Amino acid sequence: MGKISEALQKAAKERIDRLDKVIKIQEQKRVVARKMKESKVDARLIPYFDNKSIVSEQYKSLVTNLLSLNKGKPPHVMTITSSIASEGKSVTALNLAITLSHAIHKPRVLLIDADMRKGKIVKYLGVEEHKGLSEHLNGQAQLDEIIFQIDIEHLSFISCGQVASNPADILASARMSDLLRELRPQFEYILIDTPPVIPVTDAVVIGAQTDGVILVIKAGETQRGIVGRAGELLNQAHAKIIGHVLTGIEYFVPDYIYRYL
Ligand SMILES: Nc1ncnc2c1ncn2[C@@H]1O[C@H](COP(=O)(O)OP(=O)(O)OP(=O)(O)O)[C@@H](O)[C@H]1O
Ligand SMILES: [Mg+2]
Repeated sequence: MGKISEALQKAAKERIDRLDKVIKIQEQKRVVARKMKESKVDARLIPYFDNKSIVSEQYKSLVTNLLSLNKGKPPHVMTITSSIASEGKSVTALNLAITLSHAIHKPRVLLIDADMRKGKIVKYLGVEEHKGLSEHLNGQAQLDEIIFQIDIEHLSFISCGQVASNPADILASARMSDLLRELRPQFEYILIDTPPVIPVTDAVVIGAQTDGVILVIKAGETQRGIVGRAGELLNQAHAKIIGHVLTGIEYFVPDYIYRYL
């Protein structure tokens, strides 16, 4: 056997061993988000409860747009942020992660809550508080202690952990880049939820380390100039905006469209 094919086989075996290890870790650490009635999963995670609703269809078209980016080679690691607080970043990140994990080719998806100031994804999922990103970046937890499998197939999750005193610094640390380097080969898509761009620098720091940024904009509320400023801050750091998501839009859907769902 040639040296090249030996090397390829070795690399493939190493990758399988690595994946096995991660799967074992996830099975041990399984966090159960129980179904509807006794579940604490927030009702805002509509694709979790009703994959066929009109709202879920909107997230599906968002995923379709995302997957068609760059001639069907979409970014691998994406940051979700917004200009200011409460524009719908976390709900968008979660619904996007759920919808992406339902995609036809069943990609393995990881959602990271990198809002170490007031991350709420644990709350939206209705799961227990546990060690997360801040403990890992502060050297208090290994990767296998912070990565969880929720009860949505193919979707894993890393929570923000405890509120950190120096989030921007630890997000800029070598430990963060090492973490992303380790996770990249293990998931098809990694979505990172962050704090807003204008008040704090965390999203800019993360955005520059990922392949693209999705900027969430609360329609009818966030002013154009503020969105423009957020874009400038991201551009200055060479973080690439790959798209915008408008939240808070209400529109009339006629009866005949409902009948098709
Ligand atoms: N697409 C949407 N349409 C209408 N409301 C939405 C949408 N997405 C999220 N929201 C609502 O916006 C509010 C804030 O949501 P979320 O926690 O996702 O915001 P955030 O930008 O992550 O906030 P923070 O800056 O505090 O992290 C919630 O009440 C949520 O239900
Ligand atoms: Mg949030």
